[in-house]
Formats: sequence, C-alpha cells, structure tokens
Amino acid sequence: MGPEVEKLEAEFATLVGSRFAIGCASGSDALLLALIALGVDSGDEVITTPFTFVATAGSVARLKAKPVFVDIDPQTYNLDWTQLEAAMTSKTKAIIPVHLFGLPAEMDKIMEIAGAKHVPVIEDAAQAIGARCRGKWVGGIGACGCFSFFPSKNLGGAGDGGMITTSDQNLADPLSVLRLHGSRQKYHYESLGMNSRLDALQAAILRAKLSRLNAWTMARQENAARYRELFGLAGLERFVRLPIQPEGFVHVYHQFVIGVPERDELREHLRASGIPSEIYYPVPLHLQPAFKYLGYRAGSFPHSETACQQVLALPIFPELTEQQQAVVVDAIADFFRAMKG
Ligand SMILES: Cc1ncc(COP(=O)(O)O)c(C=O)c1O
Repeated sequence: MGPEVEKLEAEFATLVGSRFAIGCASGSDALLLALIALGVDSGDEVITTPFTFVATAGSVARLKAKPVFVDIDPQTYNLDWTQLEAAMTSKTKAIIPVHLFGLPAEMDKIMEIAGAKHVPVIEDAAQAIGARCRGKWVGGIGACGCFSFFPSKNLGGAGDGGMITTSDQNLADPLSVLRLHGSRQKYHYESLGMNSRLDALQAAILRAKLSRLNAWTMARQENAARYRELFGLAGLERFVRLPIQPEGFVHVYHQFVIGVPERDELREHLRASGIPSEIYYPVPLHLQPAFKYLGYRAGSFPHSETACQQVLALPIFPELTEQQQAVVVDAIADFFRAMKG
C-alpha cells in the first residue's frame, strides 16, 4: 500500500471513468472482495458464464454461494443476455458478465435486465482494460469492475495485482477496508476481511506502464486488423471463424481467438511450425470436477462446450511484426490446403 498505490488508484479511476478504484492483490481477489462487499453469502445465487477463467465462478463458490451458469452467445463468446432473465430467481444476488478476450459483453441489455430486478452487476474486466461498450469504459458500467494485473494481461505487473472500480461510495468504503483484514485503524477490525494488499512495488511498475497502455492497445488492434486482411487475402474465412467486433464496441484484443472445427490438428501443425498458440479454455466450468456438485452435465451449455472444442488463440502481442503475422497465416493456409486436398 502507500502513496504509489494511492496514485495508481486515482489514475485508474480516471481511466475507467469511475469515482473510486481500490487496489488489491489479484483479479481473483477483486471478484471475491466485490462479492463480499455486495453481501453475497451462503445460499445466494450469482449468474455468470461457464466459458471463462475459473476465478469468475470460483469466487462465488468460495463464499458458499451458488454459481448459476448461462450459456454464451457463440458469436461473441460472452454471456447470452437473451437467456439471462430466465436464469434469475428470488435468490439471485449478483450477475457477473465477463468481457472475454477483451470484447465487452452486451452491457446495455444486461444492465437493463438486472436493473429491473435491482440486482447488482459485477463486471469481470480482467481481460478488457480500455475496452468500451457504446462509448462507456468497461469496469465503469456495473456496480463494480474487477481487473487483473497478472503479467500476461494487457496491463500486467511484475507479479500479481488487481483493482476494483466503483462509483458507489457505499461499496468503495467497505472494499478499502475488507482488503486490509477489515481494519481501518491498526489492530482494530470492523469486518471480517482478508490480506489483499496491492504491493507498492507493483503499483510503481503499473504506473510506469500505464502511460504506454494506449499505444499497446492500438498495436493489438492494428495486429487484429492485419490478421483479418491476411485471412481474407488467403481465402481462409471459409475455414476459420474470426473474432467479431459488434458495432459500437471497442475490442482490446487481449486474445485474438479463431474458431476452427479441426482445432487440435491445426494446433499441432502450428506447433510443428514453431508457432505458439493457446486454448482458452479447453473445458467449460460446468464440466470441471470442482463444479460437479452443481449438477450440470454435457449438453447443459452447448455453445460453451463447442467453443471449448474449437477456439484457438493466435499471437497478438503488441510487438508482433507484420512478417510474423504473415508466417502464422501462411502456416494456417498450408494446413487447410493439405487437409482439403
Ligand atoms: C476472466 C478472468 N477473470 C479473473 C481472472 C483472475 O485474475 P488473477 O489471475 O489476477 O487472479 C482472470 C485472469 O487470470 C481472468 O482472465
């Protein structure tokens, strides 16, 4: 904690357009703290998607609340808002849309449906710093936004770190205390909190990097545009589903994820060609042993299950060169040429 953390918090709040930003030890803690501050407790239900990183639903389950999954929209990979209302019950205490891969979820619709029943929305913005949904910055739309500074993120520290954004003083106040063991005054505890300090060293590193975030984001967006052009020129759009950018949404391309039915064979071909790729995520959360007790089964969320079988993330980091992208696309073209004869 200390002055570097306070300065980062002030800069971060400005960036997201929220009144407050509260530093903490990780994106996972940001989610957990937000849920605690909102009063989520044992027996409550929290709606989210099964096609996300484990922490999104894990934070809910940690509090003995029940993660209730809603399938994704297969085009955007984000929570399908059209299924949201049907999943809500009198026990629904919060909704956590995830801005997956850097593309904002349909926040206007989600806020409208949640607002009608006075249910708070926690944005999982871990992968989406700087993304916008119809002019609004992610993390500044719901009751809270949760960010991660894990080193691989678009704004990464030199270790773990996280941030919670909110414009609600009634949340900012408990959050700033909960992350410090519920203590406002040394050795006096007003609530049951946890050790989730943001290291001053991480804050200093993040502040130094923050001034470059915009340029890095633009480089990712340019790389994405170039991939689109190269895939088009190579006639690959018949075989490869490219990520979509809905009108009015600003995607920050934490990942550039393609969809390919022959994903595993293609990945092996890329590996043999020396091209790294990754699968986010190979198994949806509802089929993970850790969430078996929820009683879902194969077929419960077909779009999430298909996504897990078909998605492949290609290199998209800001320093990627045009020549390297051409090598990636050529290798993919080779694969389909060989496969389709
Ligand atoms: C969607 C999502 N939510 C939550 C997290 C958790 O963040 P952290 O790794 O900082 O705990 C991550 C990142 O790993 C993530 O990608």
